[in-house]
Parts: sequence; C-alpha cells; structure tokens
Amino acid sequence: MPFQDEIEMGLTLTELINIVSEQNYYPTLFKDAFGDETITSDRISKSLAQFIRSLVSVTSKYDQARNEVTSPIVDFPSFTPQENEGKQLFYLPRELTNGVSGNCVGCHQTEAFVGALPNRALTLTTFATTNGLDLSSTTDLGVNEAKGNPNDIGKFKVPSLKNIAIRSPYMHDGRFATLEEVIDHYSSGVQNHPSLITPLISTTGQVGQFNFTQEEKDALIAFLNTLIDNEMLTDEKYRNPFK
Ligand code: HEC
Repeated sequence: MPFQDEIEMGLTLTELINIVSEQNYYPTLFKDAFGDETITSDRISKSLAQFIRSLVSVTSKYDQARNEVTSPIVDFPSFTPQENEGKQLFYLPRELTNGVSGNCVGCHQTEAFVGALPNRALTLTTFATTNGLDLSSTTDLGVNEAKGNPNDIGKFKVPSLKNIAIRSPYMHDGRFATLEEVIDHYSSGVQNHPSLITPLISTTGQVGQFNFTQEEKDALIAFLNTLIDNEMLTDEKYRNPFK
C-alpha cells in the first residue's frame, strides 16, 4: 500500500519491480533469499515484512530491569529512585483535574507501550497550534481520512514509546520538539476536542489534565529514557546496507 498510495510513493507495482530490478545488487540478493533471481512485488513485500518483523526491541534498560522482577508495577532494583517514580506515574492510576482516574498505560498499552487499534487514539489532534489546529481538527483529520467516519476525526494511532527519546519531533505532525513539551501537554495542555475519551474527558464533559509537579515531569522523562534500546539502535545487522 505505501508503494502504491499516491501521497506516499505513488508507484504502480510494475514501476516498483522495474526500479528494484534495475539495481545491480538485487538479483543476487533475491537468489539468496528465494532460490532464484526473479523479482516480484510479492517477494518484495515478503522481504520488507520479514525485515520489519525483525525490528524488536528487548534490550533497553527497561527490558533488562524488567527481567529481574515478575511485574512491571513493582520497583525495579536496577532503576534509580527517579526512574522508578516515573514508572509508577506512567502505570498507576491518578486523579486528573476532572476527577477521572487515568494513567499513561491506559492508552500506551502493554510493555511495548502501544495502542492496539488506531481508534483507541484521541486527544492529541486537539490542542491549538500555529498551523491552525485548535479545538477541532482542520488539516489532518487522522483515522477519519481512511474510512470517512465522522467519529474518527482527530484520532491517531497511539504510538509505541520504545526509543521515544531519540525520535523527536513528537505527535503526528511533529508539533513538539521535546519530551518536556509532550509532558507539559498532558499536564496542563489538553483541549476539549470532540473526539476526547476518558480519562481526558469526564461523563459530564470536563477536560482532565494530569497536573504533574516539576519533580514528577522530570521523573516521567527519566522513565521514558529507560526505553532507549542502544543495543538495538547500534546493531550491525540494521546498519545502512548501501554505505
Ligand atoms: C487517552 C489516550 C492517551 C493517554 C492517556 C496518553 N496518551 Fe500519549 N499518545 C496518545 C496518542 C493518540 C498519541 C499520538 C497522537 C498524535 O500522533 O498526534 C500519543 C503520543 C504520545 C507521545 C509521542 C509519540 C510520538 O511518537 O510522537 C508520547 C511521548 C506520549 N504520548 C506519552 C504519554 C505519556 C507520558 C502519557 C501519560 C502522562 C500519555 N502519553 C498518555 C494517547 C494517549
């Protein structure tokens, strides 16, 4: 789909096959992988799918510390007190300013910290920016642009937070340059977008802010830094093969 989508690579599959076939290094690589040199769009997508499935992060400080305990909620012995505090803030329910109890892991689920479905997403198209985004979505309508459901306006996939500290800028439109700005958003910047869900909106329509202290913000960022997986990021097998 990304190859063929006109706002992504905009190629027909025939054009794709021709481009790949023209590179002198590919026929041998196809022979190694599939037994003969034939290049097809099916083989190209299988190769890419296999590569993407190999991108698994299991060696961050979080993963290594997690191996020493039986639950993500207990303090990790090899974490600093600040990292453990940030982890608690991420995982444990807290009363937001609207009286609703919520946490980060409610949306950034599992220990990959990722939303299962795009339509669990919400809020973050909601706050005002200089590019015209305000309390409503105007430029990028998110999931709505795929299926046209008005209930999906402004919904975006909840992304994994693995390696998040090295992946700025943040949000679908890159509006935040730093994790500090992201945490400030959750702490006091949530706007009343029509697609808001709990805990960021209460049943009576009150918007909820996490309302973190500076110490709590710093702790959350220290925790997010433990999700950096340097071993994976510098793994020889993921190096640029064309350099
Ligand atoms: C109600 C669901 C929800 C809650 C609660 C939530 N998030 Fe998110 N988060 C999202 C969505 C949706 C996005 C992506 C929005 C976008 O792309 O515009 C996101 C994006 C992010 C990003 C940027 C990811 C990237 O790759 O750009 C970070 C960092 C983040 N959240 C951290 C947190 C932290 C820390 C908390 C708790 C204080 C939290 N989130 C609570 C739904 C949530």
